[in-house]
Amino acid sequence: MPSTRRHFGETPEGHAVHLHVLTNDSGMEAAVMDYGAILVSLKAPDSEGRVGEVTLGFDRIEGYLGQHPYFGATVGRYANRIGGARFLLDGKEVRLAANNGPNHLHGGVRGFDRVLWEAEDFEEDGSAGVRLRRLSPDGEEGYPGNLDVAVTYALTDLDELRIDFEATSDEPTPVNLTNHTYFNLRGTGDILDHVVQIPASRYTPVDEGLIPTGEIAPVQGTPLDFTAPHAVRERIAAVPGGGYDHNFVLDKKPGCLACAARVEEPEGGRVLEVLTTEPGAQFYTGNFLDGTLVGRDGQRYGRHAGFCVEPQRFPDSPNQPGFPDCVLRPGGVYLHTIVFRFAVL
Ligand code: BGC
Repeated sequence: MPSTRRHFGETPEGHAVHLHVLTNDSGMEAAVMDYGAILVSLKAPDSEGRVGEVTLGFDRIEGYLGQHPYFGATVGRYANRIGGARFLLDGKEVRLAANNGPNHLHGGVRGFDRVLWEAEDFEEDGSAGVRLRRLSPDGEEGYPGNLDVAVTYALTDLDELRIDFEATSDEPTPVNLTNHTYFNLRGTGDILDHVVQIPASRYTPVDEGLIPTGEIAPVQGTPLDFTAPHAVRERIAAVPGGGYDHNFVLDKKPGCLACAARVEEPEGGRVLEVLTTEPGAQFYTGNFLDGTLVGRDGQRYGRHAGFCVEPQRFPDSPNQPGFPDCVLRPGGVYLHTIVFRFAVL
């Protein structure tokens, strides 16, 4: 099915912003915005065949121009936190924008979610898609090197939204690109009754500032053990910090596309499987949502109104010699694929 493009508003600088709407044969619909390469909306059928919204977001561009916690965003140049907003690269200190206390979070003050991308619609093998590109200039938010980045969204007739990230650089630079969609598979209320399975027997513990300590610890015997399915509600009270916000070390081979999480919503029967080629995934239960943000259809997003599964290289890898390498070098290509696969119970 083809994609359609519609005007969504303007940036503060007066540039037009468009939504690219992808549809498939089962009635799924994904709306992707060229500002921030953001997934603005995703609709999927429930077990009765009713197609409904499954993400948190805004009806209007103004919501995305204001403060919000990365709803649907493409996050980069480095997703999650870099401790002290600094690191050593080939022996030289690199200083980044600090936007989370003393730390760097999700690409800095003006990350990839707050810039306009160049968009091109396409149709390929029965999938409707949009490819977004930009050049992140040398020095942006402190990062070294010009980074040529592309993010491609494609909606398939297998009820999968596939996101492919690709980047090259003319200087060594850390790269960690992800998508920060908040899902609520019921479309309303909180996600505490969603049942989650995460194939990860280890995680990366953090300090009070949510910076990894460098350890890789077993989940066994903790509320983070989702190797068998559990409702979020079951053990969330035992998690320090008001809910889940942890990087899981996935039990998979590096580079291969495999499951990061499977989430079921028992009432409407929607099932989401998240697949990734990356070694980790942040499971975040919207702990910092506090009811002040008014989103789509006037909904107030309170604590645990949505959850995120953010596939990623491990947080703070530029400062953690024990974590998988995250530096892209000239001549190399950074590739990451995420699949959001929908089914019903
Ligand atoms: C982080 C949270 C953060 C949220 C919104 C998640 O990826 O792990 O700590 O609050 O994004 O910024």
